[in-house]
Amino acid sequence: MMKKNTIITYQEAKNTGKKLTMLTAYDYSTAKLMDEAGVDSILVGDSLGNVMLGYPDTLSVTMEDMIHHGKAVARAVKNALLVLDMPFMSYQASVYDAVVNAGRLVKETGANAVKLEGGKVVCPQIKAITEAQIPVMGHLGLTPQSINALGGYKAQGRDEETAKKLISDALEVQKSGAFALVLECVPAKLAAHITKLLRIPTIGIGAGKDCGGQVLVYQDMLGMYSDFTPKFVKRYAELGESMKSAFRQYFEEVQNGEFPARSHEYGISDEIIERLY
Ligand code: KIV
Repeated sequence: MMKKNTIITYQEAKNTGKKLTMLTAYDYSTAKLMDEAGVDSILVGDSLGNVMLGYPDTLSVTMEDMIHHGKAVARAVKNALLVLDMPFMSYQASVYDAVVNAGRLVKETGANAVKLEGGKVVCPQIKAITEAQIPVMGHLGLTPQSINALGGYKAQGRDEETAKKLISDALEVQKSGAFALVLECVPAKLAAHITKLLRIPTIGIGAGKDCGGQVLVYQDMLGMYSDFTPKFVKRYAELGESMKSAFRQYFEEVQNGEFPARSHEYGISDEIIERLY
């Protein structure tokens, strides 16, 4: 039987060089498949806003959205470490908000940890949440909740000044108690350098192969989300096309009477039917 992954598993992976795998999930049946496949950790990401709710960005996602989907995923997960994103404005305004909202996410869903975006400016929040005994995963580089401040979805840390800032933010996030750090859309060599500098594992998304682990949004890796496909995504399946062709076949078979067939029907005795006429 597989053992439940914890933040200790994460630290052991960093110490031994084992690569960590993480995928996003937002519902029971998908999370169950991932857990059974042996994925180390599952993230209920606020990418929920894009891929499940159809928003253009993650800013509209609420605490209630995260709790609703977090609970569904938690019912499925047995072995993976379950991490929930703290949505936009649930932690930025104050340390108090951050601790109360991180507490709600863990208490109301059963998640094992929370993830929040940002460097030095959110370190007091990371420290306070960690001191409240809730493990925190940091997130640097392209931080989608800062889309309006960043002016677009693009790679971060590509010049000397921003690369140095990323390094110092990463060290501060670690010092504040984070158990792991997501690096999103960061040049591979810079991510490799940060990974070497840190005692905690890095989880890359568009940050090259030298990170301590990788994370992908599952609709991206399965070819189910066509609004936008970032350069770093590898498609492991074309489920979007398979789903569309199954939906089309269903439509045609209902129209031409092929579905439902006799084998899909429930029986009743002819005598009973005759008595009904
Ligand atoms: O919300 C999300 O899915 C994420 C991952 C891209 C890391 O934060």
